[in-house]
Amino acid sequence: MNSEEILKKIEQALNKAKVEFNEKINEKNLDEIYKNYLGKNSLLNNILRGISDYEPEIRKNVGLSVNAAKSQIEEIYKNLKEQLKADNNPAGSSLRIDMSLPGVKIEPFHTHPITAVLNDTVDFFSSMGFEVVEGPEIETTHYNFDALNIPDNHPARDIWDTFYLKNGFIPRTHTSSVQVRTMETRKPPLRVIAPGRCYRYESVDATHLFMFNQVEGLFIDKNARLSDLKGILEATVKHLLGAKKTRFRPAFYPFVEPGLDLDIECVFCHGKGCSVCKSSGWIEVIPCGMVHPKVFEYAGINPAEYKGFAFGMGFDRLVMLKYNVNDLRLLYSGNMDVLNQF
Ligand code: DAH
Repeated sequence: MNSEEILKKIEQALNKAKVEFNEKINEKNLDEIYKNYLGKNSLLNNILRGISDYEPEIRKNVGLSVNAAKSQIEEIYKNLKEQLKADNNPAGSSLRIDMSLPGVKIEPFHTHPITAVLNDTVDFFSSMGFEVVEGPEIETTHYNFDALNIPDNHPARDIWDTFYLKNGFIPRTHTSSVQVRTMETRKPPLRVIAPGRCYRYESVDATHLFMFNQVEGLFIDKNARLSDLKGILEATVKHLLGAKKTRFRPAFYPFVEPGLDLDIECVFCHGKGCSVCKSSGWIEVIPCGMVHPKVFEYAGINPAEYKGFAFGMGFDRLVMLKYNVNDLRLLYSGNMDVLNQF
């Protein structure tokens, strides 16, 4: 090899080392690259070892450029090693902290509207002697359907567009699944509410998401009456939505008899008819009813001894009505410009 060729080889080795160091590195391959280029058997050290074979006039040049390449590689290796150490231990690093940078502005605490209305709801029901209970979000079809008098293959199951998991469980389609669980573990009389997330196989639009919040209520006592249900739910919509006019309509839900829907006069047009209430002047807010004797039987409670009522509020919808939000997706967007308006 003539001197030009040797110098080119040295330069190539240096460039290759730089490229390799530049690629994503970890502790282990960093040391490997180092060994390849500066180890005993590396090209650069082999050139140095054989330097006496070269003509005296090119020895000096070769020696100088090998040593320059070696110290460059050494330097890069040292820096990367230190950086790696800093990455693993950011607190102790002097490399990472730039004291001249402006600080991070901490925004004041802000409660999400859904959480705010939920807290208000819990407080309101607590004041009437209700306790908060919870159930699992991943449910058995027994608690979500069968124990609520919705047998397998019954057409009523179609009302709930259900996701089915491979292991036979389902993400609950409503918080009504907490009813029988609660009745099985506590002795009546009962006054409970069960807030939580529910899931349905829905196509997403302004008023539907595949995940949403409900608050279930259950009231059981020896002489619970339909008038108790009416009184409590009317007070609830008055408190939460400022509703002045309400009405109950008959409705069908397999786990209650009779089943009802509580409507409030449209809060937007005050009964005149608008796009939100679809010109009816009324908005449906709380489905409810008297607990079906079959449900009591599933839970091991004697329906001749106890009566009760239940209700299930679509909670996100309540928040939309309260704050006049026309797209549910906004509430879950995490967009601070939206959230700061509440
Ligand atoms: N679970 C029902 C749903 O998601 C709502 C419901 C209706 C709950 C009537 C109740 C009730 O407790 O009594 O569609």
